[in-house]
Amino acid sequence: MKNRKDDHIKYALEHESEYNSFDDVELIHSSIPKYNLDEIDLSTHFASHDFEFPFFINAITGGSENAKKINQKLAKVANECNLLFVTGSYSAALKNSDDDSFNIVKKENPNLQLATNIGIDKNYTAGIAAIKALNPLFLQVHVNLMQELIMPEGSRNFNEWENNLKEFVQNIEIPIILKEVGFGMTEDTIKQGIKLGIKTFDISGRGGTSFAFIENMRRENSLDYLNNWGQTTVACLLNLKDYTGKVEIIASGGVRNPLDMIKCLVLGAKAVGLSRTILELAVKYDVENIIKTVENWKTECKMIMCALNAKNIKELQNTKYVLYGKTLEFSIQKF
Ligand code: FNR
Repeated sequence: MKNRKDDHIKYALEHESEYNSFDDVELIHSSIPKYNLDEIDLSTHFASHDFEFPFFINAITGGSENAKKINQKLAKVANECNLLFVTGSYSAALKNSDDDSFNIVKKENPNLQLATNIGIDKNYTAGIAAIKALNPLFLQVHVNLMQELIMPEGSRNFNEWENNLKEFVQNIEIPIILKEVGFGMTEDTIKQGIKLGIKTFDISGRGGTSFAFIENMRRENSLDYLNNWGQTTVACLLNLKDYTGKVEIIASGGVRNPLDMIKCLVLGAKAVGLSRTILELAVKYDVENIIKTVENWKTECKMIMCALNAKNIKELQNTKYVLYGKTLEFSIQKF
């Protein structure tokens, strides 16, 4: 039987976004340095927890044999590198009690900084079950409306979503992050989330994985004109500049390298999630090689911060930048 989770992995790797908003951002560097490289501090804090590094492995998978192998590999990398690891949606495990593709990461890495994920279409009791199984640091609740609409077997009823989110907030005792899946979040969504009690948002914008593309590949009559649905990651971060002091913004979507990560932090994100980039490493390389890459990323983040005269994530927010192209056009419009 064809597994939906395996389809997601396959088509995510097939898709190459033709436009990435990070290319429209140029950071203004400084020629006279203030800090030594080893003075640079990468630590951050969000969802009531301290993290040594400002990037993490964002929700990807679980729910098939292949997904289990990817989770095992990436959890090992995260454990060795002291990175946060977030599983894909736990709902696959709730449907099948034999599924150990999520729980195994905890079993194999008892000290892993672990979080998990569930869809907003689920009742809060699904979140409680996931928390009981994995004891995560926080729970991501994902919103994926256009994915559901394009998905052949997707949901068609949505008027429960808002109330579901309200109940998650009321009944779940660990921090909740409201998370997009690559379509982006802008001010109106954030305002609604704040009203419902959400304090942390992963705006996961367009530019990397497109779930419109993925689901179109799984349908008979492709609606491929929707493949670029949603707002880019940089557009969302610019749109939410006034909210960075009021709520915690996490950035993801199209992050390819440490320069993209630093651009997210300059634009006010507390941390940066990677899915497709790390998934690609997981299918191409062994654990030792991925660890080497991740360790290099840490040094590269410090190098870029040093060249921007920023000692820590907070100081990065003083970095000046200029915008080009579509991102500049987006930034000058009010909506
Ligand atoms: C995802 N993503 C995702 N998000 C989520 O909230 N729950 C999930 O179960 C999944 N599953 C999933 C599977 C695969 C194969 C991929 C590549 C991605 C979305 C992911 O967390 C992220 O929001 C988007 O992929 C955008 O980031 P990238 O991929 O451009 O770095």
